[in-house]
Order: sequence, then C-alpha cells, then structure tokens
Amino acid sequence: MQTTLAIIKPDAADKEDEIAWRIQREGFSVKMRRRITLTKEQAGEFYQEHVGKPFYAELVKFMTSGPIVVLALQKFHAIEEWRKLIGPTNSHKARETAPESLRALYGTDNTRNACHGSDSPKSADREVLFFFGGVTSPSVPLIS
Ligand code: CMP
Repeated sequence: MQTTLAIIKPDAADKEDEIAWRIQREGFSVKMRRRITLTKEQAGEFYQEHVGKPFYAELVKFMTSGPIVVLALQKFHAIEEWRKLIGPTNSHKARETAPESLRALYGTDNTRNACHGSDSPKSADREVLFFFGGVTSPSVPLIS
C-alpha cells in the first residue's frame, strides 16, 4: 500500500461530494482529511519548489482564495493512480486527452486545475507531513 497527498483546490472545494464518490469508486481509502484555508505563508512554503517560476504568484493567490480539502489517500500505487485520475496539469489539455479526469471535469486552466497530487514518494512523504504532521489516525470514511 502507498499513501499520496491529494488536494481539492479552492475552485473545486464545493464539488467535494462528487469527487469523494470518484475517490471511493476508484478504490482509494481516505486515511486523513482536513478542510482548511491556507495562509500566503503556508501556500508559499508548500509550493516552495516553484518559487521564481512565472506562475508562482498566481498559484499562491489562487491557493489562498478559499478553502481547500486535503486528503491522505491510500491504495496500491496511490501516487500514480491518483495522478492518473486527476489528469494532466492543464485542464484544457485534460479535456482533450482525459475527458473523465477530475481536472477535465472541474478545472479551468493551467493554474485553476481543481486538484493536486504528489509527484513522487519523496514528495508524498513531505506533503503528508506538511498537512498532517505525521500524526496517524484511523481510516475515516469520506462519505458517511
Ligand atoms: P499542482 O499539481 O498543484 O502543482 C503545481 C501547480 O502549479 C499546478 O498544480 C498548477 O496549479 C500550477 N502550474 C503548474 N504549471 C503551471 C503553468 N505553466 N502555468 C500556470 N500554473 C501552473
């Protein structure tokens, strides 16, 4: 089993229930969940690898524009499987190449793209620690 960090971003937070059904249907289990609004400092730290890139300021502004839902998802090959489910970064491209993906369905463009997923086991460890502090908790159903 592998754990990945998933974020439902501000543009899709009100679609959490629909996304939760997809998550459940695709066989992920939700180990941890938090609904929070990031500060500028938190968003900047989370996306520190993108400091200096042309889209960084816009990304931080977007990620602090409203609540997000953060999930630690578990499944075999969770990192790859979640990235497959969310689709390509750019929602325009996602609609062309992966029309059933979450970014195709709920995102708008390259920045407002509905969901995030860790890109490697190292990132997943860092990102889960970032949001959940390494605290383990019992598996909670996303939909009760
Ligand atoms: P995410 O998976 O959260 O990882 C980094 C984020 O930066 C990405 O989703 C997008 O929201 C944003 N991003 C990545 N590339 C670009 C880009 N070329 N232009 C604008 N935003 C981008």
